[in-house]
Amino acid sequence: MLKLKVKTSTKYQITIGSGLEGFNQSVDKYIKGDKVAIIMDTNVSKLYKNLLEEKLSAKKVFTYIVPAGENSKSKEQYFNLLEKLCSDGFTRHDTIIAFGGGVVGDLSGFVASTYMRGIALIQVPTTILSAVDSSVGGKTAINLENGKNLVGAFYQPRAVYVNTEFLKTLPDKEIKSGFGEIIKYALLSKKVTLDLVKNGISEKLIYECLKIKRDIVSKDEKESSLRALLNLGHTVGHAIESLSKYQISHGECVVKGLIYTLKISQKVFNLTQSQIDQINKIINCYNHDTSCEYSAEQIMNKVCFDKKGDGKAVKFVLLKDVGNPKIVSLTHQQIKECIE
Ligand code: GLY
Repeated sequence: MLKLKVKTSTKYQITIGSGLEGFNQSVDKYIKGDKVAIIMDTNVSKLYKNLLEEKLSAKKVFTYIVPAGENSKSKEQYFNLLEKLCSDGFTRHDTIIAFGGGVVGDLSGFVASTYMRGIALIQVPTTILSAVDSSVGGKTAINLENGKNLVGAFYQPRAVYVNTEFLKTLPDKEIKSGFGEIIKYALLSKKVTLDLVKNGISEKLIYECLKIKRDIVSKDEKESSLRALLNLGHTVGHAIESLSKYQISHGECVVKGLIYTLKISQKVFNLTQSQIDQINKIINCYNHDTSCEYSAEQIMNKVCFDKKGDGKAVKFVLLKDVGNPKIVSLTHQQIKECIE
């Protein structure tokens, strides 16, 4: 079992284990109150509902199930969950467990951050993406008609419990998507080595990825500067995700975004051939489809006229080398010259 301490506005522990024997020993001490609301989606409930309810049977457990998929990050599901907590008598002294991937984590986190102005939250991720990224760092959100994650809060969990056991039942598409995010970490830091990534999911791999995230969010909890490094590959990745109407998975879009990151980094930093080869080797280590069916113009339009932009320049995370990312502001003209 591996452990990491996160030092944000509230401090909490990440536990990474394999095999569920130690579940209670790792989780029980973080549960506040007598009542626990476990929020999960329809896919996870088929596999693990009984198991989790049994593990937590010493408490009064309420299981709330939401439909699987991004559409559950909606105001309807958000208010449904708040109403359920209220009618089941939850107080600020009880606990929510977000048991799932990014959607359940973001939705449950936002519910936890606002129910009675904040109720204890434990994140138990069940996808690789949520295990190495979204369960840590306190970003919570729901979507609006006009865009993803437009309503949310920074709300740190009381604990994060990752167990590789929950990742064994993932479909191939989800695994591929998760490794897209892991490849990002392998480019951000040399600690996530190519060998470690190629060996597949392990406690050590999750630990090394989360250590990078932990170090960044501990220094910049609310993304005023450094936390943006975690967006490596995401600027173009999000554009492709949106152009595909979310038909291409997040991690696969990140990998496609990394190809553009390399293209731009090459021009901006004049990378050597050996640096380019090394970066390419990492991006391609899981044989992701790196092709992109969208034109440079379509991508430009999404990247440059994103609601969050200032209309003139866009902040990109670029690579000076493997393990040496830099945040650079590029004008629309510069981006155009780099990606066309
Ligand atoms: N997923 C990027 C972040 O948490 O900041």
